[in-house]
Amino acid sequence: MILIEGDRLRIRRAEMSDLNFILDLQVKPENVKFIVPFSKEFHTKILNSDCTKNMDVIIEEIESGVAVGYFMLSELDNPHNKIEITQGIIDKKNCGYGRETFTLLLKWIFGVKKCHRAFLDCKEYNSVGIHLYESLGFKREGVMREIIFTNGVYENLILYGMLDREFQVN
Ligand SMILES: CC(C)(COP(=O)(O)OP(=O)(O)OC[C@H]1O[C@@H](n2cnc3c(N)ncnc32)[C@H](O)[C@@H]1OP(=O)(O)O)[C@@H](O)C(=O)NCCC(=O)NCCS
Repeated sequence: MILIEGDRLRIRRAEMSDLNFILDLQVKPENVKFIVPFSKEFHTKILNSDCTKNMDVIIEEIESGVAVGYFMLSELDNPHNKIEITQGIIDKKNCGYGRETFTLLLKWIFGVKKCHRAFLDCKEYNSVGIHLYESLGFKREGVMREIIFTNGVYENLILYGMLDREFQVN
């Protein structure tokens, strides 16, 4: 199922055949330091579900059909009209695919799903993520102090949110 298409990318619901792609992306050294990987069991549960609560999506190039990233969306069934972008990884980095993906997801969240709020969190040393979220118009809403324990260290996460009235269609 295709959620939305842009100039170069399409976002489609992930299938069981995408599981290994997702698991491999999560553990690549350039990705794992910025995320908290989810287990194979958790992804399998999502991929086998009706996706009313959580959804894994694949980002693919329209021209080649090649998968270039994966994102997880959560809280799809909550009564407060909000969606969390829980995880996002672009494999083919620094060619604008992250920006196009977030722009498409926000168009889907606010334009198609008619949500009131989109939100995500980010490690405080993830300078690419922070640059991207702030330049897209996400507001920094706070810091969750020492909320994750990675390699023996408690780390902070910055919370970013955007409301429907703040979303600028480009
Ligand atoms: C974060 C991520 C999704 C971004 O995707 P991407 O395709 O690489 O991003 P883009 O090419 O669209 O944009 C990168 C932006 O960061 C900028 N950038 C690159 N290096 C940077 C740095 N060291 N510091 C700040 N900004 C930087 C680029 O100039 C570009 O900005 P611009 O669009 O204003 O020119 C991707 O890098 C990724 O998967 N990272 C690992 C996992 C991760 O961090 N996920 C997010 C967790 S919150």
